[in-house]
Amino acid sequence: MNTQELAAIAQALISRSKGILAADESNSTLKKRFDTIKVESTEENRRAYRELLFTATGVDEYVSGVILYDETLRQKTREGIPFPVYLAKRNMVPGIKVDMGTKSLPEFPGDTITEGLDGLRERLAEYYRLGARFAKWRAVLNIAEGGPSAYAVDANAAALARYASLCQEAGIVPIVEPEILMDGDHTFQSCEQVTDRVLESVFTHLFAARIHLEGMILKPNMVIAGKKSPVQPSPDEVAAATIRCLRRHVPSAVPGIAFLSGGQSPSEATLHLNLMNATKNLPWTLTFSYGRALQEDVLMSWSGKPERVEAAQKALFKRAKLNGLAATGLYKSSMENTPF
Ligand code: 13P
Repeated sequence: MNTQELAAIAQALISRSKGILAADESNSTLKKRFDTIKVESTEENRRAYRELLFTATGVDEYVSGVILYDETLRQKTREGIPFPVYLAKRNMVPGIKVDMGTKSLPEFPGDTITEGLDGLRERLAEYYRLGARFAKWRAVLNIAEGGPSAYAVDANAAALARYASLCQEAGIVPIVEPEILMDGDHTFQSCEQVTDRVLESVFTHLFAARIHLEGMILKPNMVIAGKKSPVQPSPDEVAAATIRCLRRHVPSAVPGIAFLSGGQSPSEATLHLNLMNATKNLPWTLTFSYGRALQEDVLMSWSGKPERVEAAQKALFKRAKLNGLAATGLYKSSMENTPF
């Protein structure tokens, strides 16, 4: 394992004022997003949409890396440049989602396990050849129905550690993503308890698998209440509880933590990140690895119309810039209404 190379990639991904654009929606997830703007999910429309994202002026100031889906890693710009080559030229590290999605866990209603370990060593070798230098694997934990079970937490953490060790062997930085869903009416306190349990298990398994901590990135959820919970925490409470959980479980050797947005609105996800970055003396860099919170406004603005590409790219630039500012604690809510 080339630990220096892994650490250098991880450092590039968490450079100051920059974060990660998660554009790795599977074809079925992207179809759902396209349905909301009445765009057909053809291979060419998916390519055109990703080209819109990757070629937006100025985004490279705030985006250090882009997570791609298998199909996208193999697609090209209109000029025929493979997307990973194009991104690397703009100094945005190409990444790849390598998990194969979730399946239900027999005997554990509501719990899932993420699949994709079989053949992963060979797939990673190919992804490296195609230009990917970091990867993502998402474990999904569900608080609804009294979950997640201890078994689901342990099985998902074990899979994350197996995935991370195969990535590091291949020279690819693993993004370790245990996501506790915000679906349901659970309290803010129960999200904190479950986040504690999950992070404890994840790092126990990462240690056991001898993961080189300096060459990985953690992608956790923030501590928030269920979407349907009648009591919602203040943004300051979210920031404080999330930092509390991370301090308890994430070793300072991990260079960076890049949050998922998980269904928060774009401005909420930016505000929470900014408040966390106002905390003094954190051992890690805190940044974003947002999918929906970066793309929501872009999709609405684009709506599949070629004449709307420029406006949609401006919407991406705006959200990337606001999150870049939040990654250094310099965002203000009033900026949401300033023209860019
Ligand atoms: P969201 O920010 O939409 O949660 O997506 C991030 C991601 O990569 C989910 O796996």
